[in-house]
Amino acid sequence: EHGAQVLVASNRGPVSYAVREDGTLDAKRGGGGLVSGLSAIGDEADALWVCSALSDGDREAVRRGAGEPGVRMLDIDAAVHSDAYNGVANSVLWFVHHLLYQTPLEPTFGPEFRRQWAAYRTYNQAFAAALAEEAAQGATVVVQDYHLALVPGMLRALRPDLRIGHFSHTPWAPAEYFRMLPDDIAEELLLGMLGADRLGFLTTRWLQAFQACCGAVLGSYEVMTYWPKDATPSVGYRTPDGRFHRTLLGVHGLGADADFLRERSQRADVEERLADLREQIGGQPGGEDARKVIVRVDRTELSKNIVRGLHAYRLLLEEQPQWRERVVHVAFAYPSRQDLAVYREYTAEVSRVAQEINSAYGTEGWTPVILHVKDDFARSLAAYRLADVALVNPIRDGMNLVAKEVPVVSDEGCVLVLSREAGAYAELGDDALVVNPYDVVGTSAALHAALTMPAEERAERTKRLAAAGTALPPAQWFLDQLEALRG
Ligand code: G6P
Repeated sequence: EHGAQVLVASNRGPVSYAVREDGTLDAKRGGGGLVSGLSAIGDEADALWVCSALSDGDREAVRRGAGEPGVRMLDIDAAVHSDAYNGVANSVLWFVHHLLYQTPLEPTFGPEFRRQWAAYRTYNQAFAAALAEEAAQGATVVVQDYHLALVPGMLRALRPDLRIGHFSHTPWAPAEYFRMLPDDIAEELLLGMLGADRLGFLTTRWLQAFQACCGAVLGSYEVMTYWPKDATPSVGYRTPDGRFHRTLLGVHGLGADADFLRERSQRADVEERLADLREQIGGQPGGEDARKVIVRVDRTELSKNIVRGLHAYRLLLEEQPQWRERVVHVAFAYPSRQDLAVYREYTAEVSRVAQEINSAYGTEGWTPVILHVKDDFARSLAAYRLADVALVNPIRDGMNLVAKEVPVVSDEGCVLVLSREAGAYAELGDDALVVNPYDVVGTSAALHAALTMPAEERAERTKRLAAAGTALPPAQWFLDQLEALRG
């Protein structure tokens, strides 16, 4: 029997390459849920991860046939990839699911978008073709995210023998908002996903939004989302060739990896950064001039709402002057999607507002905001360890793992200030201080409440947050989906 038994497909893969000065390749393994999930399958020879070649090093690895076993990178034409990834996936689908269009002039779907949509199709087709080529008879394939929404339908047409799943790591848009997409494209996208046997979502809220979109968009396909004698959420519809197809839906609330985080956050590189960070924060820990630490860690991502978070912090310093010199806001951001002008502008705005706060309130021995825009996981873990308060205030977020990670790692326990629009709210809402992400006054008040919470209550809440946030570790999250698909 040839081919892989379990396949994962995603735009960003588990490894990326850089070309060293001497011409050799330097492989950097990524972390994250899927990586540990796939290694949990054990028999690596039977598992394959199909992803895009994203860097020059990745493309070089493909050319030399030098990639790792178990990973196949697709060297898709750079212009096609950019139209699909930057143009469609990140500028449109991401914006739709995160409700990011905020002006009356956006979005406008003209001929340029049609051209990009054609590239998105080509890009999805390349994944479907590679998966069809690599999969063993009856194999299980799990396709990831909005980059690859058309793959399930395309793959089913090529290989009807496969069990095909798709998982959405994003929120799903409300039907009225989703219908901004041109009708034919909205329909093609949903039908593409419904080509799967099973679709996974992070919360019930996103699952139900998807069902609502199917009901609103696929009117001419006899859509069914309710079965009187079977409670399994699903979407059924009449295919153009007259069959009735039922796609099952399920919720898998990805949790943080407690074992990994506890071990990783005690290593020497984290300790080193911890010492640096303590020095930058200043004040005497435990002493009379001790300083509280409000931590946030995000990608430089519009939906993360970093700027309103800074405004809320400024308001706290303005209206509760007792916190001046007694608190520091540590904001670490990983550069993301900097090919897009709005992301670059947003990143610049974050820096501008942080500097403004520092020049308005800072004193000789106190920097109110410590902002770093750089990719440094060890430093993020150091910040987690010092957190008295974790600020997670996205406009909208599929899950948000930072909300689940900080309570596990923080040395002294922390209070979580959490947006009700993050998927994590479904699991952590009871023990967090919950905010409306648009309400800067409310967020500022929550920060004050968090800073003044009695130690005992804070400890109790931290314990419950850590337990709830690690209930479904990544490996189990992945295995559950495989089991449900094979069911
Ligand atoms: C979100 C998406 C992921 C994506 C990640 C980073 O969490 O759901 O699929 O990998 O953002 O974004 P990037 O564009 O850097 O891959």
